Amino acid sequence: MRRSRSGSKKVPRGKPQTVPKYEDNLTDYICGKAEQMSQFADDSFDAVVCTLVLCAVDNPEAVVKEIKRVLRPKVGVFYFAEHVFARIGDGTRVIQKVAEPIWPTLFYGCHLMRESGEVIREAGFKVCKITRFDLHIPSPIMYPLRSAIYGIASK
Ligand SMILES: C[S@@+](CC[C@H](N)C(=O)[O-])C[C@H]1O[C@@H](n2cnc3c(N)ncnc32)[C@H](O)[C@@H]1O
Repeated sequence: MRRSRSGSKKVPRGKPQTVPKYEDNLTDYICGKAEQMSQFADDSFDAVVCTLVLCAVDNPEAVVKEIKRVLRPKVGVFYFAEHVFARIGDGTRVIQKVAEPIWPTLFYGCHLMRESGEVIREAGFKVCKITRFDLHIPSPIMYPLRSAIYGIASK
């Protein structure tokens, strides 16, 4: 998690691809597991941004529960974009099932069969808007990542 100059906006720690737009505003950051964010008070964040993280954490349910806990009621917004397990009947789902046993070893703990949209939906946010889409995949080896979601939630 990173903290902005204003002290009110935090974004997830991560690789540079999706973080640079926040860099100008960052003054400090905290490294740790998102399953356990006890250093942050309840209802203390205006926004939590989570991109391609729920595929990699040990316990997605615990992470979303913590995100919900730290978000400010009504005004706080959880923004997310994640690759997910494809729908039943989608060919990508078969590829994901085949690749899953080896994928986390090859790609730093990333899992292909996560139902992250359902995890977020079932966390009990008052507002929860989730859109499924297909990621543009430039290389065949990355095809299992094709199925994705983005959305917002607030409590
Ligand atoms: C696929 S990378 C995505 C990085 C970045 N969010 C992005 O969109 O480019 C997955 C990230 O999840 C982080 N991660 C893995 N397990 C985690 C955990 N339990 N809590 C917080 N972050 C975790 C990894 O350190 C890694 O930076």
